[in-house]
Amino acid sequence: MPILDLNVVEFVSGSPIQTARIGERLGKLLRGGEIICLEGSLGAGKTCFAQGLGRGWGATDDLTSPTFTLIHELRRASDKARLYHVDLYRIEKEAEAWMLGLTDLMDATASVVIEWPERAPALLPPERLWIKLETLDDTRRRLTFKATEQAHLNLLNALKKSAFGI
Ligand SMILES: Nc1ncnc2c1ncn2[C@@H]1O[C@H](COP(=O)(O)OP(=O)(O)OP(=O)(O)O)[C@@H](O)[C@H]1O
Ligand SMILES: [Mg+2]
Repeated sequence: MPILDLNVVEFVSGSPIQTARIGERLGKLLRGGEIICLEGSLGAGKTCFAQGLGRGWGATDDLTSPTFTLIHELRRASDKARLYHVDLYRIEKEAEAWMLGLTDLMDATASVVIEWPERAPALLPPERLWIKLETLDDTRRRLTFKATEQAHLNLLNALKKSAFGI
């Protein structure tokens, strides 16, 4: 696992289970206010990762790929926290995301995981954990994690410790 610089971690996942498991470890670390961006082409594993994340966070419902809803709210039994799963694949223009209240969500204390964040770049706050998923072959995906400021860097460091033991 090469460490490119302090803010970047690269990891190759060998299976959907492994991808979901890293998501699960990240989900366990969320405390509210995080923006997790999942960039990657069709079938790269964004939803697979987000499903694990929802599980780790403790969501009462399974996280699915919403077909018509752009924003899906998840709850958990232990407290009143919210996790929002956003899929911008079908977004027409950034104004649409703004109207959907995406910016309100991101100002709040909830945790937000976003598929296809590159479709509405101007809406995203500069503070975030950006995860790029690349398809290497049928079963392997390269995940590149990049944190942009201290809070998300702390999250990335906690994930490194939890997932990779470093
Ligand atoms: N290492 C891997 N990690 C994640 N998924 C994998 C891996 N290897 C194979 N796959 C397969 O790739 C597909 C990933 O699907 P997934 O829905 O998570 O992609 P996505 O990035 O959300 O796509 P979309 O842009 O359509 O929403 C699944 O069929 C999964 O079984
Ligand atoms: Mg998806």
